[in-house]
Amino acid sequence: MKIMSGNSNLPLARAIAAYLELPLTDAAVRRFADEEIFVEIHENVRGEDVFIVQPTSYPVNDNLMELLICIDALRRASAKRITAVVPYFGYARQDRKPGPRTPISAKLVANLLTEAGADRVLSVDLHAGQIQGFFDIPTDNLFAAPVMAADIQARYGDQSLMVVSPDVGGVVRARALAKRLDNAPLAIVDKRRDKPGQSEVMNIIGDVKGRACILIDDIIDSGGTLCNAAQALMDEGATSVTAYITHGVLSGAAVSRVTNSALKELVITDSIQATEDAKASDKIRILTIAPLIGEAIRRIADESSVSSLFD
Ligand code: R5P
Repeated sequence: MKIMSGNSNLPLARAIAAYLELPLTDAAVRRFADEEIFVEIHENVRGEDVFIVQPTSYPVNDNLMELLICIDALRRASAKRITAVVPYFGYARQDRKPGPRTPISAKLVANLLTEAGADRVLSVDLHAGQIQGFFDIPTDNLFAAPVMAADIQARYGDQSLMVVSPDVGGVVRARALAKRLDNAPLAIVDKRRDKPGQSEVMNIIGDVKGRACILIDDIIDSGGTLCNAAQALMDEGATSVTAYITHGVLSGAAVSRVTNSALKELVITDSIQATEDAKASDKIRILTIAPLIGEAIRRIADESSVSSLFD
């Protein structure tokens, strides 16, 4: 087995390799003067089971292209099996046609990965589970929930908890987390979004008064969804609001929005490499999912069960 990394999240790739007690495959991913990407693998991978770690986060298109080129290089070097480890799957939010004459870009990305030569895909908290069906190759979708639940129990386990989904679409995810927290009660923020990038909280379904609320979502991008939801929950009498979000996309002014919000704390994972701003914010804490991904990789390589990781 070999673990290779693109440039998108080297610290995560190193941590996964450390978990597996393997060195990272010696490879160089460089840019030509015009930004063309060039990949050179400096060791033999013929006949190897190779896992290439590359979340397709900002800059999404560069990181995606780098991943495709790495897969091509591995395929041409006769790797036996290539698994694209994409902890954050960019373009996942474009998983259906929101209107006429619009693309389904998540499907296009799935086609590109397959066409480049990926034999398997490993991702974490895909925006929608059905994206697995966009691939005709085996796709494992891991959940950060066990890592989050352990942290919540350790930090907030003594409080009267309420798990909250920031929108109707996230209820299944929130329910799964609530189940891990001794069946904590569930509330839903009924959010109406007028335009992309803007969110408006309408009302809260469930009684959050006197509760320590745990907001759960897959992505924080501009932070609008979360910060508005946190304010609405505090207005309804919550004692505190803490957010657990798998993918800290944190675009634009998101970090300062979070810092100035009603949130007690935002907890994200290292599926995306955090910016210096995010690391410096005393409201943002990062949990590692390297052992989770490392263990899934070990099981894929050993051909043992991945789903039992979540029993
Ligand atoms: C939407 O369906 C996602 O689950 C997130 O709620 C959304 O992407 C967050 O975006 P933002 O932080 O820009 O409100």
